[in-house]
Amino acid sequence: MRKRLIAGNWKMNMTPTEGSAWAKKIAAALSGDSEVVVCPPYTNLYPVVESLRDTHVSVGAQNVHQEEKGAYTGEVSVHMLKDLGVKYCIIGHSERRQYFSETDELVNIKTKLALSAGLVPIICVGENLSQREQNVTTEWVRYQTKLALSGLSDDQVSGLVIAYEPIWAIGTGKTATSEQAQAACCDIRQVVEEIYNNEVAQNIRILYGGSVTAANASELFSMADIDGGLVGGASLKDDFLEIIKA
Ligand code: PGA
Repeated sequence: MRKRLIAGNWKMNMTPTEGSAWAKKIAAALSGDSEVVVCPPYTNLYPVVESLRDTHVSVGAQNVHQEEKGAYTGEVSVHMLKDLGVKYCIIGHSERRQYFSETDELVNIKTKLALSAGLVPIICVGENLSQREQNVTTEWVRYQTKLALSGLSDDQVSGLVIAYEPIWAIGTGKTATSEQAQAACCDIRQVVEEIYNNEVAQNIRILYGGSVTAANASELFSMADIDGGLVGGASLKDDFLEIIKA
């Protein structure tokens, strides 16, 4: 049985003070056996980790640099995150790919480095609107998944998380239908089975992300291959508590 996972991607929102207060509120409201992760901006990681100590909520970063250390002004390494008490790391979010030119090769490098440091990657894949309209969603998510996982072992892939996030649904209020989301998550699980085996494919957790709200969460999360959600906008408000319940 895969444990359900709800991750909140705060993006560039919330000051450290606001973030700590919000994290405490989430932890206080938490019940049930889903796993919950909040991914604040770098500056909030330390206060949020402190606020969530001895709670069931974990902390993730939104990105990490691809080198272990060195002269990379302004960047943050996997070891810094790990030492801080961060457990997860989002890798290859479409906003990183779009605004910071991150490629599938870079996503693979970051994934390997995060795993080597003991972080759990949440790898994002997903098609844009023109790819959806040209009916190449399956090929595209299979391709991105293959490249992201290139060179990883069975054990490494079993433990990580992939988030299917159609770019046209991110922050737009347009959610994929539960059938569209299920189909893409099933494609991802299938390609994992082809490259690895059935056991790995059954272990890996696959999330849906893109305008998840309290209103659509339970239907999305009821689909066979959707193990939870990566939530952006709605993770900043009380809706997130409703999504966790869903
Ligand atoms: P959204 O963002 O929920 O605001 O669409 C999702 C994401 O970018 O992970």
